[in-house]
Amino acid sequence: MKRRWHTRQTTFRQLEILLAVAERRSVTAAAEALHLAQPTVSTQVAKLAEAVGAPLFEQVGRQMHLTEVGEDVVRAARSLFDVLDGLEMRLAQRAGLEVGRLRIAVVTTAKYLIPRWLGSFCAQHPGITPELQIANRGEVIRRLQHNLDDLYVFSHPPYELDIHAEPLTDNPLVMIAPTGHRLAGRRLNWSDLAGERLLMRETGSGTRYAVERFLAQQAWPLPDHVTIASTEAIKEAVAAGLGVGIVSRHALTHMAPGNITELDVAGLPIPNSWYLVTLRGKQLSPAALAFKQHVGEQLAKVPGHGAA
Ligand code: PGA
Repeated sequence: MKRRWHTRQTTFRQLEILLAVAERRSVTAAAEALHLAQPTVSTQVAKLAEAVGAPLFEQVGRQMHLTEVGEDVVRAARSLFDVLDGLEMRLAQRAGLEVGRLRIAVVTTAKYLIPRWLGSFCAQHPGITPELQIANRGEVIRRLQHNLDDLYVFSHPPYELDIHAEPLTDNPLVMIAPTGHRLAGRRLNWSDLAGERLLMRETGSGTRYAVERFLAQQAWPLPDHVTIASTEAIKEAVAAGLGVGIVSRHALTHMAPGNITELDVAGLPIPNSWYLVTLRGKQLSPAALAFKQHVGEQLAKVPGHGAA
């Protein structure tokens, strides 16, 4: 029988500790998250490095970085835990239990969409614990590259990666201004916006990416702009008269300050859609498969739903 070094020297617990440190790039933060003492975490990572025969981390300034070997071990540990999580859920299902974790990472605009579905899903599957991460497109791409979650939602799936993307529903981007703005209530051309300050999301945001791409396609100039790294803050700043903004229309459905209005600009809204994205080749957990199915059922109830 083949002798495997890791079955003699490495424990699952060490791999779990490694993942916690790698995700947070900090022994202290990992120790806190795992409710362990800091020296325990350092010792276990050191033992693992010894078993592997090479350092797993390097310290650059105050930051911990994974070495190339470390990256490789982390990738292997994630695949291993994916398989084990799947096994755990299947065993639980055999025993008539529906348990497990469902990890979803979505771009910020999708926070107006996914929690609703998650609510109805969790009501039907009380044994499943959801973990929802919300971040801008750049950060969600990073999570996808590191295989940190089961499912992802993007408006602009990163097709350069090996992914599968299914359209969900429309996510049009509209221009907003304070109520009573000089341009409100009439049909506008882009040139009418000259002199207005545009409040833009940060680099890495899918909303910003869509706006820049749209303007480039139309050969329309990017007006004088200011960066604000949050759609909610853009809404507040627009209401306060700092400028006009382009945001997901869904961001206006709830909690919109009463003092903002949508401008009627020719060519807008910018067509945009959400997609449910998975890494091709990833073995989805029963919880993730059940959630995908739930999303399909919810979408089927929306009359004439479809991606733009
Ligand atoms: P983001 O999300 O602007 O927060 O990246 C938006 C999107 O891509 O819809």
